[in-house]
Amino acid sequence: MTQTLKLASRVFHRIRWPQELGASQDSRGSNSAPKSLADIPGPSVPSFLAELFCKGGLSRLHELQVQGAARFGPVWLASFGTVRTVYVSAPALIEQVLRQEGPLPERCSFSSWAEHRRRHQWPCGLLTAEGEEWQRLRSLLAPLLLRPQAASGYTRSLDNVVRDLVRRLRHQRGRGTGPPALVRDVAGEFYKFGLEGIAAVLLGSRLGCLESEVPRDTETFIRAVGSVFVSTLLTMAMPNWLHRLVPGPWARLCRDWDQMFTFAQQHVERREAEIAMRNQGKPEEDMLSGPHLTHFLFREKLPVQSIVGNVTELLLAGVDTVANTLSWALYELSQHPEVQVALYSEITAALGSGSCAHPQATALSQLPLLKAVVKEVLRLYPVVPGNSRVPDKDICVGDYIIPKNTLVSLCHYATSRDPAQFPEPNSFHPARWLGEGPAPHPFASLPFGFGKRSCMGRRLAELELQMALAQILTHFEVLPEPGAPPIRPMTRTVLVPERSINLQFVDR
Ligand code: HEM
Repeated sequence: MTQTLKLASRVFHRIRWPQELGASQDSRGSNSAPKSLADIPGPSVPSFLAELFCKGGLSRLHELQVQGAARFGPVWLASFGTVRTVYVSAPALIEQVLRQEGPLPERCSFSSWAEHRRRHQWPCGLLTAEGEEWQRLRSLLAPLLLRPQAASGYTRSLDNVVRDLVRRLRHQRGRGTGPPALVRDVAGEFYKFGLEGIAAVLLGSRLGCLESEVPRDTETFIRAVGSVFVSTLLTMAMPNWLHRLVPGPWARLCRDWDQMFTFAQQHVERREAEIAMRNQGKPEEDMLSGPHLTHFLFREKLPVQSIVGNVTELLLAGVDTVANTLSWALYELSQHPEVQVALYSEITAALGSGSCAHPQATALSQLPLLKAVVKEVLRLYPVVPGNSRVPDKDICVGDYIIPKNTLVSLCHYATSRDPAQFPEPNSFHPARWLGEGPAPHPFASLPFGFGKRSCMGRRLAELELQMALAQILTHFEVLPEPGAPPIRPMTRTVLVPERSINLQFVDR
């Protein structure tokens, strides 16, 4: 890692700092004439790319956000692959970008995914759709997922999955060397939990991810989710001509997506057949009622192919995000026993200490420390470390005018580790969200994005995380692996632990 940072810093050093930038960094709203893209500082294209590819800097993209801000200030320009990108890393400027977005915001960060849909003739889901198609899907899905009441309607399905997770953690203890309560690679376990949970919500079915024998197609899906993020970074960074010379990453990306689409298609078609059988001979108004999202989408008469597109993308969006956040949460709680004790007390006072406690969504959402722990974990380890927007008109960002159709990268990792916003930014300190110390800028930590294109699964993710943490801490005291060195995050499109997190789950 130090190598990568040193190299990146060498690249940055080669660029001369424009005199005027130093003066302009804090001068938002100054009287000077707006500057253009040409005035924005940044590293030279070939050396930056060469350093990234030769030294594995792709996995340190989140740290390069911090480096870039330190070298060039809050707005800098660089090219990633063929795309010229303006990086923005001050909360007030990120707010400025997001508040200027139009009615159909474009993110564009997953363009190789949209390209796969086009070439392989799969439908886009909400994640990759653009323009009016996106708007239609968004207004259909938002009432079914984003409204707090809608999300809490999935509590019962999730409760069963959480119980199975606790059972599985108990079962996985003591495999291999180490203390008897040690579970190795908790993120691997939470991937299975993430998929089982989101599948229960989307399809109303259990996939068997938390059983001792995981079904083969489910294993394939889990592998594809992990692998697609690796090839995504590579394909996006490579110019088109290079794909012909080095076809591996693009081929892998397509293989992984095809497997995920096929998996979702089989499940959606099964649901369709069940619904048809159940509804035979029934009047229209009784038809297609059910507790899971696919039922609701059939009821809305969304074409099957579009349901498949959305289920596939929602399955993907729901696995890594929840799994990594839960892993980091337990990792930090294991390192901070005083916070874990306080959280355990809060949970048991609200829900009762017995293992039969049935957490209600509303009860959990009112536990201040539980909420603060999740916020703090997402500040330290934002699963989406850098988001983006492509403005549909020229926009003003600080002293600069950014022309429309420019890719603007929002450096959330950098802002959420900024000491000016969060004193001791690298420390896990949930109390900072409970009114202790000065409040940060509201756009300093934006783990779920903002505005019309913000995360569709936010309510569901919060519910899953709160339910899983409450149940795990009710059953176990979570301790670190004795003698294990600290674990840092790395970028794999999303932010993941750089190596396996192993934790002890000791019975209470
Ligand atoms: C800790 C968990 C999660 C985090 C931190 C997270 C974060 C994000 C972020 C940063 C975005 C981009 C928002 C923007 O551009 O402003 C996003 C979009 C999205 N997320 Fe999540 N997410 C999480 C869980 C989930 C889950 C469980 C689902 C599935 C139900 C989901 C589905 C989506 C979808 C469909 C979009 C695209 C929305 C659109 O383009 O309209 N996310 N998420």
